[in-house]
Amino acid sequence: MEKTFVMVKPDGVQRNLIGEIVKRFESKGFKLVGSKLMIISDDLAYNHYGEHKDKPFFGGLVEFITSGPVFAMVWEGEDVITTARDMMGATKPSEAIPGTIRGDFGITVGKNVIHGSDSIESADKEIGLFFSEHEIVSYTKQD
Ligand code: CMP
Repeated sequence: MEKTFVMVKPDGVQRNLIGEIVKRFESKGFKLVGSKLMIISDDLAYNHYGEHKDKPFFGGLVEFITSGPVFAMVWEGEDVITTARDMMGATKPSEAIPGTIRGDFGITVGKNVIHGSDSIESADKEIGLFFSEHEIVSYTKQD
């Protein structure tokens, strides 16, 4: 079954949005198979956001994502990668539709509350960067 990596960013943790965000994914019917509160090291930030390393905002992005705890999760379900991205809304909160997480809670593109993998390849990479195999729980969930 498909898995994706979702992370409540430091602004979302500070604003007490972990519960709200977990609730949305649970209510949708996805299965939580991994989660942890953690502080991202500079090394992990560079690896995670490596594709943006030449962008002008890269320094600020690394500084922000390492500035305080994030809540990292792995969610499982049919088409969870695309659906999670739809639930998050556009990267730029001003373009995110109300009802989406960024549309409801985000203000700036830098502090946009949540991150989610954008493809099967990035989900595999990001889950592997943030979680070891034994931290991913395999279980049956009743519908
Ligand atoms: P995320 O989905 O975590 O992936 C890359 C992040 O870069 C993105 O969310 C934004 O938070 C951030 N980002 C994208 N564009 C900008 C920008 N113009 N200025 C600052 N941060 C940006």
